[in-house]
Amino acid sequence: MKRTLCFFLIMCLIVSMFTISPAVYAEQYFAVVVGSTLDNLLASVQGESSATAAYRAFAEKAYEEGYDAIARLFLATADAEAKHAEDEWAIAQAMGATVRPAADVPVVGTTAENLKTAFDGETYEYIAMYPEFLEVAKAEGMTAAARIFEFALEAETVHAANYDDVLKNLGNATYINANYGVVYRCPVCGEVSKERPGRCPICGNNGANYAMYNQTYFNLLAAVHGESSASAAYSAFALKAKEDGYAEVYRLFEATSDAEAKHANDEWELARAMGASVRPAADVPVVGTTAENLQTAFDGETYEYKVMYPEFLDTAKAEGMTAAARIFEFALEAETVHAGNYDDVLKNLSNATYIKANYSVVYRCPVCGEVSKERPGRCPICGNNGANYVMYSFSFLTYACDGQPIGTLDAAVGKTLDIDILLTTNDIAAESVAFFAALYDKDGRMVSIVNQNLALANTGFETVSLSVPINEEGMSLKTFIWDGMTFAPLITEYLF
Ligand SMILES: [Fe+2]
Ligand SMILES: [Fe+2]
Ligand SMILES: [Fe+2]
Ligand SMILES: [Fe+2]
Repeated sequence: MKRTLCFFLIMCLIVSMFTISPAVYAEQYFAVVVGSTLDNLLASVQGESSATAAYRAFAEKAYEEGYDAIARLFLATADAEAKHAEDEWAIAQAMGATVRPAADVPVVGTTAENLKTAFDGETYEYIAMYPEFLEVAKAEGMTAAARIFEFALEAETVHAANYDDVLKNLGNATYINANYGVVYRCPVCGEVSKERPGRCPICGNNGANYAMYNQTYFNLLAAVHGESSASAAYSAFALKAKEDGYAEVYRLFEATSDAEAKHANDEWELARAMGASVRPAADVPVVGTTAENLQTAFDGETYEYKVMYPEFLDTAKAEGMTAAARIFEFALEAETVHAGNYDDVLKNLSNATYIKANYSVVYRCPVCGEVSKERPGRCPICGNNGANYVMYSFSFLTYACDGQPIGTLDAAVGKTLDIDILLTTNDIAAESVAFFAALYDKDGRMVSIVNQNLALANTGFETVSLSVPINEEGMSLKTFIWDGMTFAPLITEYLF
């Protein structure tokens, strides 16, 4: 009797340590199905994948309820579980597994309930599941599996303690923000801690390699997703504009697409430096008419410069993330300009003269993504020298002809002028164009014409060599470029 009482007291002690009811604990403990190491790997892939999905869903709920720091803890821990699942699946595959177990669909409650669910799951894993799996792996001599199970066991112990701490202090926002405002994750074993350690206490990884999770990290990932989607959409819209015969709109979309791609790349580099490993993919564009596409583009830009980037910028400043703040500020201002361009073009879409006069050539700042109708002295956003701007015109040429001015062919009668004309283009991807050079007499009558089909690579150039016989005084040369027959009518002016 005395012995039973003593046992009961010890049970109570254990139970209070893990704040889990005896019934649940026993149920979970005895629910561990232990098989061969391969069976155990598959079971753990299933468990870790389910935990990943659950924590991501719990993060959304936490954001919804205003617990931003807890949302980030869930997301950091989700990434840790994803890594466990990945490592376990790699070993299972090496052992011959072919069908990866799928994650359970998460059941989401309130944040308090979700923290309890997460704590219970972690506790089950580190007290019951992983110790059993580890023992079997060791007994079977499966050292790689044993190593992963041991890392996971220790990481889950830390995860459980984090969730327990947060749950106990859920009402104390000051404590939560002070302790979990920024969390760090070991990319090898999945340890999640409140401070960046010198070395990971579990696997010994250098703390400099830890991934850092503050709000700016997630904002960068969201921005990469948004910018990549915008870039993909504008490329698709450009092709549609071209199909509809809007040459200038085509170039504006192309130039702006390149600006968004630069934003996405800059933001991704920063996210990567903070520990991100999976780049968010772009959405598949939904293409409408050119008018609809301009409206979609305008709306997207407006959301970005009015809502998204101001918020991201404030957060980056508050978190002391100066590089991210700089990128967000550039993007915010560039999107303001992009929105203005799209708005102007949309309002004047039926006025071909206006569009042609204003958007025949557009320029893009390669640093901040400003897109303007004229090459500025300095970029009004980032101060970059205007000479570095990328020009989006159909084409233009530079030429060399023995020092002769090319408009009027001021050469001795009877001489043949050899002229090299360098065509450059930066917006026609691997497309064929027709080049015409027409020779005129002094009265403006066309004497002869030569034409060549040229394949122009994107941002490429092509040299056209002409031999022009000078039969009389005052002859002149004009050149024309057609974008093949796919883009009639004539889309260049006389070049000179
Ligand atoms: Fe895990
Ligand atoms: Fe965990
Ligand atoms: Fe952008
Ligand atoms: Fe933009």
